[in-house]
Amino acid sequence: MEQMTVSEKIWQMILVERGSIFDPLDIAKYSIWAVLNGSGDNPFLNTSSGWLEMVNNMQAYAQRSRLRIPLLYGVDTTHWHTNVHGATVFPHSIWLWATRDADLVRRIGKATAEEMVATNIFWWYSPNLDIAIDPRWGRFYESFGSDPNLVWELGQAYIGWFQSNLSNGARAMATAKHYLGNGSMVWGSSSQSNYFIDKWWSFISEKELREVHLVPFKKAVDAKVWSVMIGLNSWKWVKVSANKYLITDLLKKELWFDGIVISDWYWAYEIEWNGYKSLIKAINAGIDMVMLPYDYKSFSANMETAVKKWDVSMERIDDAVRRILTKKIELWLFKKNLIPKKDFQIFWSTEHRNIAREAVRKSLVLLKNNDNLLPLSKETKKIIISGSAANNLGKQSWGWTIEWQGVDWNKFPGTTILSGIRNIVSKNTDIEFSELWDFWSSEIADVGIAIVWEDPYAEWVWDKRMLVLSNQDLAAIQKTKSSCRRLVVIIISGRPINIRNQEKDWWAIIAAWLPWSEWQGVADVIFWDYPFTGQLPVKWDLK
Ligand code: BGC
Repeated sequence: MEQMTVSEKIWQMILVERGSIFDPLDIAKYSIWAVLNGSGDNPFLNTSSGWLEMVNNMQAYAQRSRLRIPLLYGVDTTHWHTNVHGATVFPHSIWLWATRDADLVRRIGKATAEEMVATNIFWWYSPNLDIAIDPRWGRFYESFGSDPNLVWELGQAYIGWFQSNLSNGARAMATAKHYLGNGSMVWGSSSQSNYFIDKWWSFISEKELREVHLVPFKKAVDAKVWSVMIGLNSWKWVKVSANKYLITDLLKKELWFDGIVISDWYWAYEIEWNGYKSLIKAINAGIDMVMLPYDYKSFSANMETAVKKWDVSMERIDDAVRRILTKKIELWLFKKNLIPKKDFQIFWSTEHRNIAREAVRKSLVLLKNNDNLLPLSKETKKIIISGSAANNLGKQSWGWTIEWQGVDWNKFPGTTILSGIRNIVSKNTDIEFSELWDFWSSEIADVGIAIVWEDPYAEWVWDKRMLVLSNQDLAAIQKTKSSCRRLVVIIISGRPINIRNQEKDWWAIIAAWLPWSEWQGVADVIFWDYPFTGQLPVKWDLK
């Protein structure tokens, strides 16, 4: 730190969005030392090798800067390494909670870390330790649930892997997010028409904030998590990213957190209308690294002005830089060969796919099973299958997969529910499939399976008042029912869906949540190679 100029110190505090670096020479010229890519902002060649090449190039530019401090590249794994086409995709956190299996989550963490390290990335923005309370919130499914101790149990399993020594000697940094009280925001607290709950307020007491929402973060700090991301919410009218009491007094001083505090997407600028004043508030509240100076040159100019005007003290900047450099040292970024060899066989490897398939299997919850219709026999004579999600990997994989809001196609590797069922039944079973069940079929099937879904979404885009199935899916269910003796409905969703008025004549109902790429796991359970063991992570009333 003694060798650093004020300007170089300020550049340590910048987390630049990849897409806003138009000239890679800027990395060397200005010493850009931390980069992230938002979900969906992927390299032109979105493959593991495309990613490795992109990160390696950036590291090479960082090595051309005056002090040759290595670059810290961060990426979202809210949903594992799923920006990369060809990565193994595991179920979202809420449904891992349905498995109640911390060892499984530990193995998922390890598999994710291995795939990330293969792309030369050592910092990821997970686990999400929000306590999810209101299912209408579009981020409900990103959390491990609403019980603080269980959220922590699974979060800990995950952090353990990220920060331990990986098999190839690498270390990686987890991020506990979103500090603090993000799951306590109230519906309708927004004044903007397209935000109903996300990014808004909560008014809970400090007692509740500490006894519920702080619990997993306190435990994460005790377990030495290396970075914490501040949420986009406000508590008692003050944005958490501007709350010195919560960040400096509580997190850093009372809990002794000695890692890096980062702000969330552009939020350091949205505390006040005036960007400069906003930034000063965030840094003085205790934020060490600001996510998204899109315009990194003006960030640095603003910060230099703030130092000159004593709006921010050098002591505060030194504290932030010391925290950031310490983690870069502990990550061994100064020691590693920053341009590793290509080593991609780990991506979507049989080992990782088997873990994902196990996770799908264990997260399925049997909501209803009249006359023990399930499990089905592999010798069933005729099965009809309908529903828009039956044969669509994108729909079953959801938000944060390749694109922020998810994709709607089958172009990445995986098995769909339809192919999973086709793989498992006997040669003599006749399987008929139609997405909307819109063709005429004279023969009544023994069993009909309708696979319906909630539209994929991420974040505030789908804060939704009514959690119901679409008319199209309800029509597909009705038509399927009229062509079979007994009907199974599989629901893919990020939260409980209200089916109270429709479910009476459905024989069996399975909550399949967001099963990701390894749908073979669904067929494994329906046809009883494995039992149903998943338990509801949240209340789901049928009556
Ligand atoms: C989300 C964070 C995420 C960040 C970077 C934000 O919109 O709130 O959870 O880590 O984007 O992608």
